[in-house]
Amino acid sequence: MSQKPVCVAQISDLHIKRPGALAYGRVDTAKALERCIAALNEFAPAPDLVVISGDLADTPTPEEYDHLRRLLAPLKLPFASIPGNHDSREMMRTAFPASKYAQSSGALNQRIELAGLDLMLLDSSVHGKPHGLLEPPTLEWLDAKLASAPERPALLFLHHPPFKAGIWHMDRQDLFNADALWEIVRRHSRVRLVATGHIHRATLTMFAGVPTTICPAPNHAVDLDLAQLREPSFKMEPPAFHLHVWFPGEGFGNLVTHHVPIGQFDGPHPFFGPDGKLL
Ligand SMILES: [Fe+2]
Repeated sequence: MSQKPVCVAQISDLHIKRPGALAYGRVDTAKALERCIAALNEFAPAPDLVVISGDLADTPTPEEYDHLRRLLAPLKLPFASIPGNHDSREMMRTAFPASKYAQSSGALNQRIELAGLDLMLLDSSVHGKPHGLLEPPTLEWLDAKLASAPERPALLFLHHPPFKAGIWHMDRQDLFNADALWEIVRRHSRVRLVATGHIHRATLTMFAGVPTTICPAPNHAVDLDLAQLREPSFKMEPPAFHLHVWFPGEGFGNLVTHHVPIGQFDGPHPFFGPDGKLL
């Protein structure tokens, strides 16, 4: 039986401000999101869903979410979002009233079925704090949902990485109860990926035996300062998003994550000439 692959695009850390305002006085995050949306709209095959993994707004204010909604309007793909440390749960509930959250108040967790794949979107935000925490009801919900369909592969999304990336000022604001998530992931072999954001850099590690990623941002990147040489800083590195492609197959199938740079690049150029020979 051959089933179609499922494509989940992940974008992260949009940091949308009020119209005309620049992040840190320098970064036009609205323009960056426009370029990202153009890239998503052009991508073939069209992703089945876009997951926005937190820090949608910057301050946050209702005006920023209004601006975000206007910027997202040209996106031709369905999307779902979870809060980051720069977001407000209440403002997000108001901004996206059609979202089907698992709880009617508190954490904005969601479970989304895409063909044979389950996505678990986990709210790791802590009001007014930069670090992350999965609240007990979120952990209980995740554990129960994962137990309810053990044969279906599942991808977990949350804003805060549950591991140290080596960037000191970000590591002190990671997921504070990563051990609780570790226990749950270890219990459920159907978890095939833990996908996060927060650090604005493409990063890969293993967590509880599962590939675990950080999605880059469409705007600025946190400076890769592993030697603590500088004050917390950012760089305008090439923007990108992640594309998680699940190929159905034996067992849990196969999951591949692509790093997709955003921008106009020379090519594509053919490898072979009209005579079929390698150029
Ligand atoms: Fe963040």
